[in-house]
Amino acid sequence: MEYDFLKIEKMDGITIMKVSAPKSLNALNSTILREIGDFVDNIDETTRVLIVTGDGEKAFVAGADIVEMQNLNEEQGFEFSQLGARAFRHLETLDIPVIAAINGYALGGGLELAMACDIRLASSKAKFGQPEVGLGITPGFSGTYRLAKLVGQGYAKEMIFTCKTINAEEALRIGLVNAVYEPEGLMTQALVMAQKMVANAPLALKYAKECINESYDMYADDAIELESKNFGHCFATQDQKEGMTAFLEKRKPIFNAR
Ligand code: CAA
Repeated sequence: MEYDFLKIEKMDGITIMKVSAPKSLNALNSTILREIGDFVDNIDETTRVLIVTGDGEKAFVAGADIVEMQNLNEEQGFEFSQLGARAFRHLETLDIPVIAAINGYALGGGLELAMACDIRLASSKAKFGQPEVGLGITPGFSGTYRLAKLVGQGYAKEMIFTCKTINAEEALRIGLVNAVYEPEGLMTQALVMAQKMVANAPLALKYAKECINESYDMYADDAIELESKNFGHCFATQDQKEGMTAFLEKRKPIFNAR
């Protein structure tokens, strides 16, 4: 599928998905949400790590599109929320690592997109917030759920109830992002991290991601059981044989595509 609002770049197992609607600071309208959903659902087998970013120097994504939302009724509001929430849930549960390279404003639906990624790297100029209640709505693409999980209920409530915008340094302090870089170094650092992941066993990565994602909502015994199952599954893969043989032969492993 050709995309009007996504720019896709591929290199050595890494794919970059750039949200591109410069006139509205990459705000997410329903076409963009559909494009993200389609892209995620059809991601090709050669992609071992996905990097999500925004076009331009100012914004990652400045939220859901307020122009489109302005005249929605209750049913349409629900549908718009479901469109974004489903696309982001599919992104979150992709069987490859996803890194958000947050190059500027990550507000509302933009922060929600970043939070559906596995790892968030930020430009020192990035700004973060959930300003929805100031617009008369709640966060709609699972922000209440993921923000509270990532930074705790207290801080999430403070951000959502006050529409507070925080800078990259504060986002790092509260654990909302993993690292902060100068704007010009952000993509390089995202690629360096992605390359480290590409060098590792893709099926082991997939099983580890599934354990971390799913165990969040599980009882301890179930989470521990899931890890044992996935650990066992690794022993049915060529990657385990190659990884351990390479170690014992004192060479670098060569892993199969996922
Ligand atoms: N939707 C639609 N258009 C948007 C937009 C959005 N979320 N964010 C920015 N734009 C548009 C502006 O309207 C403006 O368009 P015009 O040039 O036609 O006037 C253009 O992008 C540039 O924006 P500004 O002139 O406002 O740029 P600025 O530098 O002065 O401010 C900003 C930047 C602080 C990000 C500001 O644009 C802003 O506050 N944007 C809205 C942020 C927001 O409230 N996001 C949450 C949306 S609700 C949501 O996301 C719901 C959900 O959870 C699903």
